[in-house]
Amino acid sequence: MTDIALYSKEIDASVIHFFDEIDSTNNYAKELASKGAPAGTLVVAASQTSGRGRMGRAFQSPSGSGIYMSLVLRPGEDFTDAVPVTSAAAVAVCRAIRQMTGADAGIKWVNDIYINEKKACGILTEAVPDPSTGKLDSVVVGIGINFAKPSQEVIKSMPQDVQERITWLYGSSEKPPVTPAQLTAKVVDEVIAVCREAKNRDYIAEYKKYSVILGRQIVFISAGEKQNALAQDIDKDGGLVVLMPDNTIKTLFSGEISVRWAD
Ligand code: BTN
Repeated sequence: MTDIALYSKEIDASVIHFFDEIDSTNNYAKELASKGAPAGTLVVAASQTSGRGRMGRAFQSPSGSGIYMSLVLRPGEDFTDAVPVTSAAAVAVCRAIRQMTGADAGIKWVNDIYINEKKACGILTEAVPDPSTGKLDSVVVGIGINFAKPSQEVIKSMPQDVQERITWLYGSSEKPPVTPAQLTAKVVDEVIAVCREAKNRDYIAEYKKYSVILGRQIVFISAGEKQNALAQDIDKDGGLVVLMPDNTIKTLFSGEISVRWAD
């Protein structure tokens, strides 16, 4: 993984911080960002002891099977500049995985990457405020990719619902044709490239193309209650436009949805 810079068009070795083990690459990247680290700063670890996911969940980060990385971006000073980063990052990661591995990767709103209806990658985007101005300092895009399937022992140590929900890009006996460093570099290059142009929202068309939920029945939680809806569209800010059973239209901006895959 120390050879990422060899394969990247966007970053060089001086901005890459590599760890065998860390609590969370997002925590470290946020610390670096708040001390002024430049855009493109990348934190990569072979394993995480407290990998974090969205909605306060843990992200399983065992050694030798995943890519755990956090990239510092500086999209602007206004918090609205951070809005497109979440969905732009999903498009970028989906593109990188598709191009490098040939897998039919898709996006499950907001920004999970799914292959064959199982989660292969999660993305956690966090805004870093500047305490002296109250404005946006930077955005950290944390990406966890399930790369090579670990041993049954490692899988069995994960919570049951996680075991059922996730997949890996490569099986345990496969020899991957790409290295984690090559895929990491491609992901970094795509994230930087898509986010650079994110303000014009051109990537939304690609987001819709890769979406695995549009046109499907979904369930989301609102005010503590489960609600059924039809996923209809993605708006320019990455919001999910849904058709409710009473024929009204709602736009969801965050949260978690589940999909009835069996439709
Ligand atoms: C999710 O599935 O809800 C998002 C998972 C994001 C995981 C990545 S792994 C690298 C980075 N460091 C973290 O602690 N989380 C992100």
